[in-house]
Amino acid sequence: MMNFELTEEHLAVQQAARDFAQTELLPGVIERDNEQKFPYEQIKKMGELGFMGMMVDPKYGGGGMDTISYVLAMEEISKIDASASVCMSVNNSLVCWGLETYGSEEQKMKYLVELASGQKIGAFLLSEPEAGSDATSQRTTAVDMGDYYLMNGTKNWITNGNSASYYLVIAQTDVDKKHKGINAFIVEKAWDGVTVGKKEDKLGIRGSDTHSIMFQDVKVPKANRIGEDGFGFKFAMKVLSGGRIGIAAQALGIASGAYELSLKYSKERKAFGTEIMNHQAIAFKLADMATEIEAARLLCLKAAWMKDEHMNYDRASSMAKLFASEVAMKTAVEAVQIHGGYGYVKEYHVERMMRDAKITQIYEGTSEVQRVVISRDILK
Ligand code: CAA
Repeated sequence: MMNFELTEEHLAVQQAARDFAQTELLPGVIERDNEQKFPYEQIKKMGELGFMGMMVDPKYGGGGMDTISYVLAMEEISKIDASASVCMSVNNSLVCWGLETYGSEEQKMKYLVELASGQKIGAFLLSEPEAGSDATSQRTTAVDMGDYYLMNGTKNWITNGNSASYYLVIAQTDVDKKHKGINAFIVEKAWDGVTVGKKEDKLGIRGSDTHSIMFQDVKVPKANRIGEDGFGFKFAMKVLSGGRIGIAAQALGIASGAYELSLKYSKERKAFGTEIMNHQAIAFKLADMATEIEAARLLCLKAAWMKDEHMNYDRASSMAKLFASEVAMKTAVEAVQIHGGYGYVKEYHVERMMRDAKITQIYEGTSEVQRVVISRDILK
């Protein structure tokens, strides 16, 4: 049976996220973007409302919701503030999901409870100065010293780099084994030898805190390795596959936010004696935006549904992310065009959305990486 209707519960989550975004995120979003201010207060409230660990079992402090609810909430939050939503996305789908699915009971009690309830923020540390798309080329090392691992290296472009208390770090434990010699570890920011590097001055998502993180002789207890020895690369791939649904939903939100503002503006703004929506040049743009956003939404929801049904969703999540991020970029550019001169200034929000949209084609795998995942799956 095919059913495109959302349940009462889904609609309630969507409404709660919409209300929160309007009342708590919209005020100050321009200022946070200008001043590169992390939305600490807003994220704290999102934790209290259950948005930081939406899919986690309530016994570990989460909301016990499905991935469809998560996509709906991500879209609504991202319509207003993509800096807040990337923090939410990394915490939910990379950190919490990774820990809940592959962590030990001890790790879950020690770390997941705080992360899922939003008391603490998490980050995912895979990218390095020389390992972005080529994720198997890890230079960060964790040497087995018997009782603990000794970690050294540098990670780059880390979302929640400073705001996070706990890091999931991917590191090489046996260089000869290449990707089979990679492990994932839980590292606490407060530990000796962990240094938060410079904050990146970014084009978009400027409210999000992106940093490099350095490890110098950091002692990581054996109990903090996630899964069996050598599981780290697969862990990263699995986590990113789900994460791509979150970023796809973020891209969808940026697109639908830019579209909604464009629709409103087109009904108000007059030119050549009538509201600009009455000009086909504008009406056709709105028609294209609405159609592409609907297609992106369906891809996001399908990937989420497949994950909830425990099907293999690797191809579906990459398709959703690839398509939604391209729709976000295109829609945001058109939104600026529809707004004309107003679109080029901060007050009307769409110039920020255009800058924010670009990152969705880059992080959690560039559009090219998504095409690698999709084409390999098609051709296998
Ligand atoms: N599930 C399970 N295993 C997987 C997998 C998956 N989805 N994808 C790959 N693997 C396994 C493969 O089976 C293979 O294992 P075996 O040798 O045992 O068969 C192993 O992993 C290596 O796979 P590949 O040979 O496919 O590896 P590759 O080097 O060709 O790389 C890639 C593939 C898709 C390009 C991958 O490197 C990749 O996804 N890169 C992008 C990384 C990325 O998304 N980075 C984002 C950083 S995090 C971030 O952005 C967060 C943030 O701040 C918002």
